[in-house]
Amino acid sequence: MEIVVSGIRSTGCLHLGNYFGAVQNFLKMQEDSNYHCFFFIADFHSLTTHPKPDDFRKNTNEVLVDYLACGLNPEKVVLYAQSDIPEIPELYLLLNMLAYKGELERVASFKDKVRKNEENVNAGLLTYPVLMAADILIHRAHKVPVGKDQVQHLEMARNFGNRFNHLYGNDFFPEPYPFTFTGTPITVPGLDGSGKMGKSDGNGIYLRDEPEVIRKKVMKAVTDSGPTVPNSEKPDAIKNIFQLLTLVSDASTVAHFEEAYNNCNIRYGDLKKQLAEDIILFNAPIKERIDGIIRDTDYQQMVLKLGAEKSRASASATLKEVRKIIGIE
Ligand code: TYM
Repeated sequence: MEIVVSGIRSTGCLHLGNYFGAVQNFLKMQEDSNYHCFFFIADFHSLTTHPKPDDFRKNTNEVLVDYLACGLNPEKVVLYAQSDIPEIPELYLLLNMLAYKGELERVASFKDKVRKNEENVNAGLLTYPVLMAADILIHRAHKVPVGKDQVQHLEMARNFGNRFNHLYGNDFFPEPYPFTFTGTPITVPGLDGSGKMGKSDGNGIYLRDEPEVIRKKVMKAVTDSGPTVPNSEKPDAIKNIFQLLTLVSDASTVAHFEEAYNNCNIRYGDLKKQLAEDIILFNAPIKERIDGIIRDTDYQQMVLKLGAEKSRASASATLKEVRKIIGIE
């Protein structure tokens, strides 16, 4: 049995990048008896941007509701909020002793955050990968289903785990590796010509978005004047539209537009309309379930309570061993 851990930061509802980069794999893994899955809401991670107290809980619940509406089953996986597991911050503290300033400063996501938000470069941001390592190592995970942007963070989690093992002369922590059923973590693009769909990039198409909002977002997608040479390579912005189409539309629709592109008679207006309608169709059953679950706060509380109990049982067993290894008793 392999241990699986993954999470999503509670800085907003889930978008298509979260779904196709991560949740899609969560859903498959939960059905596979080879995997014991721990999926969580990374709400401590959201504190780097100092949300208001009311928003903190609200955001945690939003991710929970989205998880459930996507089909995560709390009877098959351990589903919990990171902030309900005090063992995680304790392991984070211990791992911080093994994490060096230089290596943390070199992390791409840190450098990016510093560039975008110079006035809030806090230590939590710098040690973000250490908290992530604690999330993963606390259950001694083997596999971590994530999108491509998290691959470097996982490398750090392996480094910290290996450093611990080496320092104390054991093999307590297994090496956690990124996992997807296709073999390679993906990047779901945004439609603004940028490489990646992201909550902080303002280009997200959310599972909860109303059809009208989705139509507007998709119709605004960056395009060009269209191909003039048959079978020419697509520019990045057009590739992005096609990549999203491949995720939400059926193969014949994708083939139809590929052919039109290759024959230079593609109409981007039609392509975008089709993409918008297929995203709306894809979201519809999830949205319907969100509308049901969102009102049932008792159910949400019950799920979090059950998840916290199961997660803490595993987390405290790891932490007990870690303390013993370090000599804290
Ligand atoms: P977060 O909240 O930014 O994203 C959650 C998951 O969604 C994936 N993802 C994407 N995948 C493909 N294309 C995109 N455009 C895209 N946008 C987001 C992310 O790769 C991720 O898998 N630090 C993490 C949360 C976290 C975590 C962990 C993950 C905290 N602790 C432990 C795994 C294990 C984060 O901010 O992801």
